[in-house]
Amino acid sequence: MAIEQTYLMVKPDGVQRGLCGDILSRFERKGLKIVAMKFMVIPKGTAEDHYGEHKGKGFYDSLISYITSGPVLAMVLEGENAVAVCRGMMGKTNPQESAPGTIRGDFGMVTGMNLIHGSDSPQSAAREISIFFKPEELIPYRRTADDWIYE
Ligand code: RTP
Ligand code: MG
Repeated sequence: MAIEQTYLMVKPDGVQRGLCGDILSRFERKGLKIVAMKFMVIPKGTAEDHYGEHKGKGFYDSLISYITSGPVLAMVLEGENAVAVCRGMMGKTNPQESAPGTIRGDFGMVTGMNLIHGSDSPQSAAREISIFFKPEELIPYRRTADDWIYE
C-alpha cells in the first residue's frame, strides 16, 4: 500500500467553535503523521484557485465567502492510503448524511458549515498541497511511533 500525503484544513467554523484540537487529535490517534501545518486566513484568489472545480455552481460564491471568512488550520498529513482514510474520517459532504463517528457526522448540521476539507484524490492532494505550502515547508522526519503503527 502506497504512502500518500493529503491536504486537510479545519474550516473557519471549526476554528471558531474550538474544534481544531479535537479534529487534529482524531488524525493523530489514527496514526496519520503531521508533515506540515499553518494557521492562516486564505486570500480570496487562493480560495478561488483551491475550489476552482466548483466555479459556476450555485454554491460557489457562498463557498468562497465561507472559506475566507476567518482563519483556517491548514495541514499536510501522511500515511498509507492517507487520502481515502482521511476522507472516510471526515464523513459525507452533508453532515446530516455523515455517519456518527465521523468529523462531520459528530459536529456538523449543514453542508455550508461542514468543518473540514480533505483532498479527494492523490492528484488533488498534490495540487492543493502546492497551493498552500512551499516544498521546504513539508518537513521530512522519522517518527518512531511508526514502528508500532505499521507492520
Ligand atoms: P471539501 O472539498 O471541502 O473537502 O468538501 P467535499 O469534497 O466533501 O465536497 P465538494 O463537493 O468538493 O464541495 C466543496 C464544499 O463546498 C460546499 N458545498 N456547499 N450548498 C451546497 O450545495 C454545497 N455543496 C458543496 C461545502 O463546504 C463543501 O465541503
Ligand atoms: Mg471537495
